[in-house]
Amino acid sequence: MKAVVTGAGGQLGQALVAHPPADGEVVGVPRASLDIADPVAVADMLRRLRPDVVVNAAAYTAVDRAETEPEAARRVNAEAPGVLASACCGVGARLVHVSTDFVFDGGGGAPLTPESPTEPLSVYGATKLEGERRVQDAMPDALVVRTAWVCSAHGRNFMNTMLRLMRERGEVRVVCDQFGTPTFAGDLAQAIWGLVGAGASGIRHWTQSGAASWYDFAEAIRREGQNRDLLGTEARVVPISTEEFPTPARRPRFSVLDCSLAYTTLGATARHWQDALAETLAEVARVEQQNA
Ligand SMILES: NC(=O)c1ccc[n+]([C@@H]2O[C@H](COP(=O)([O-])OP(=O)(O)OC[C@H]3O[C@@H](n4cnc5c(N)ncnc54)[C@H](OP(=O)(O)O)[C@@H]3O)[C@@H](O)[C@H]2O)c1
Repeated sequence: MKAVVTGAGGQLGQALVAHPPADGEVVGVPRASLDIADPVAVADMLRRLRPDVVVNAAAYTAVDRAETEPEAARRVNAEAPGVLASACCGVGARLVHVSTDFVFDGGGGAPLTPESPTEPLSVYGATKLEGERRVQDAMPDALVVRTAWVCSAHGRNFMNTMLRLMRERGEVRVVCDQFGTPTFAGDLAQAIWGLVGAGASGIRHWTQSGAASWYDFAEAIRREGQNRDLLGTEARVVPISTEEFPTPARRPRFSVLDCSLAYTTLGATARHWQDALAETLAEVARVEQQNA
């Protein structure tokens, strides 16, 4: 199998390239080589590389900025995936598209299945939902993988922001009334390749196991970071409410995803987010020691 990963410079894109499937060749195409919003460049890339599978890990992921740049977000998250899906059909390649828990409003209290009603609260969520629909319209048997709260050792993410703020300020205030599941790019990448190998199509949810508030997640980062000497100082995490931390984009209160369908296809549940966090922070510590 020959696979192309778009957005290969991002957290998930890098992980998809770093953890290729055993029977596959993976070509990572970063933004500098391919703007997925350029239909001519997309067609050209597909003609040149002739992949069996394309995994679209490119996205406009600046959730708050999207509120003031809706057109830019829509171009990348909604229009481009639809064009990519049509172009993939044209060369007989399957498309795997990555989407988000932010397609839900998070107003309930039970884990959300792929069939749960969608109701995005933000421009980012709405454009990602439109992207899913355009992909499925163009390629009815495409695979759409919704995930949540993605982190990796390298990249812009909550874990790295917390580590930085804890070092700089010693105290961070973190919302304790929004719940989801921290998910680590390496595990997610391997699950995506597993779903591709199993021939899955339609919408699948995949996150690590377990659930947490952002506060719980920050506390775990503090504990684990302190144990691994990553903070350099005693840090404190203070729980606050969403109302005390207003952001331009509204976020779901409860967007824990029910991943049982994907776990069944894969024949394995995901490991708990705390185990994946511990491994990721061990990697951060190793890299920092090497660079010291
Ligand atoms: N991060 C999360 O918490 C999260 C949660 C749920 C779902 N997801 C979904 O998971 C997927 C991967 O996200 P991620 O965490 O890996 O995000 P990321 O680290 O921000 O990576 C996204 C990548 O897409 C690239 N990109 C943006 N516009 C592009 C364009 N027009 N053409 C080609 N590449 C473009 C970005 O390049 P630049 O950096 O140069 O802009 C970046 O390398 C996305 O579909 C996202 O919606 C993420």
